Amino acid sequence: MTTIIRAMRRVASGILPLIAVDRTASQPLHRQIYDGYRGAIIEGRLRPGQRVPSSRSLATELAVSRFPVLNAYAQLLAEGYLQSRVGAGTVVSNSLPEHLTSCAPAPVRVAGKRSRPRPVVQRAYPTRRESSPPWLRGWGAFGVGQVAVDQFPIQIWSSLVMRHSRTADAKSLHYCEAMGYKALRETLANYLRTARSLRCKAEQVMITSGSQQALEISARVLVDSTSSVWVEDPCYRLAREMFALTGCRLVPVRVDDEGLNVAAGIKRCPKARAVVVTPSHQFPLGVTMSASRRFQLLEWARRAGSWIIEDDYDAEYRYDSSPIASLQGLDGDGRVIYIGTFSKVLFPALRLGYVVIPSDLVDRFVAVRRAMDLGPPMLNQEVLTDFIKEGHFARHIRRMRVLYGERRRVLVDSIKKELGDRVTVLGDEAGMHLALMLSKEESDTEIAERAARENLRVWPLSRSYVRGGRAGFILGFGSVPVEEIPAGVRKLRVLLDHG
Ligand SMILES: Cc1ncc(COP(=O)(O)O)c(C=O)c1O
Repeated sequence: MTTIIRAMRRVASGILPLIAVDRTASQPLHRQIYDGYRGAIIEGRLRPGQRVPSSRSLATELAVSRFPVLNAYAQLLAEGYLQSRVGAGTVVSNSLPEHLTSCAPAPVRVAGKRSRPRPVVQRAYPTRRESSPPWLRGWGAFGVGQVAVDQFPIQIWSSLVMRHSRTADAKSLHYCEAMGYKALRETLANYLRTARSLRCKAEQVMITSGSQQALEISARVLVDSTSSVWVEDPCYRLAREMFALTGCRLVPVRVDDEGLNVAAGIKRCPKARAVVVTPSHQFPLGVTMSASRRFQLLEWARRAGSWIIEDDYDAEYRYDSSPIASLQGLDGDGRVIYIGTFSKVLFPALRLGYVVIPSDLVDRFVAVRRAMDLGPPMLNQEVLTDFIKEGHFARHIRRMRVLYGERRRVLVDSIKKELGDRVTVLGDEAGMHLALMLSKEESDTEIAERAARENLRVWPLSRSYVRGGRAGFILGFGSVPVEEIPAGVRKLRVLLDHG
């Protein structure tokens, strides 16, 4: 008896499909339940193998006695729509033909009839929904944005998750404040003041779902459809696309070996509302913005009354010098919105980032954020706070700096050996990617497509430009073990030889 009870308890309860019963209808209740289930199975709303609820819970849910439910189930079992499985209760039959149980979305056009117009927002950037290009697919050499996830101290992380799950109280399970978990914001403010020379208090730090959400909130607060916004050329495509969604005018401004060319920006559009920049390690070229350009940019923003959105996505990893101080820390006029992320320094699926907001804009950021998602999820914030406070974060950064530093060294050496003066290497001082400029004009996209067919990911540089630019490749080295790097570069050389 006890065994049976235990076995029954282990069986998860089935989901109740939407079926309506009408006690006043002439059709008997068991027939209505039967029709409801049969329809749900045939229309694919209930899938083969899916559990149906027990007769008792369905009867309770429908507020009817158990008899009509048992009757309907018996009929469905007899006709083969349902089957009983020992230990798993009653499930939708697995032997029904696929065409009977398809859950394909309804066709847009009904045969013979013209569908009515299907209006969508017109001012949105006409993003072609390209299926992800081949160099973004798969894992390994030289995927951009891939971190050494196998090196992440997952044991420590999971013990912190366990600790917080066990002790979760009403506060942990209720809505979080729109700005994020206070203890994490305080911990982060300390870290940013010390490690990134920011001038900030915890009250200015908002926790976001990665830097992409921080960009979105910034765009919604600062930019409207009549604004112009400078974007780096070349740039991080998802930042550009996010601002384009506001309907604003994007003004591409060239990046050279000192970073964003501020004078060129002023010439093209002196009164831009905002600029989006990656000054520590420009994406994708990897250059660091020079001190004189930083002061020029801050001065322009002060005079023009513009905003600077500083995307500091991978500042923690710098190899030949200390990390570069943030632009925010140099700003004396509250013009910089500083954005950071844990995607590179920990792992991207964490979806945690932050934005440091000028004090007078905090309320506006909060209002927009509340309307978007009410606030960030709590558990990962609590875990991350302890991960930082207990020293695991600093230790992980130190370890990874050594590991990535070694991967970068081997990559640069292999490039010199295999490619020599056919390419120029840029941006290898920091982060987890570098850029290669091709000396000869070649189609980087074609080569990247061929490379992908051979399981080598190289991101064609020309695709990151708005107004056309140099051919080359962006190579990520975060996820590539040292011993695989020389073979990857050799493969690239062979592809270029046959270019
Ligand atoms: C320039 C830049 N900003 C931000 C990010 C990270 O975005 P998120 O924090 O949303 O993962 C990336 C990721 O590749 C990036 O390249």
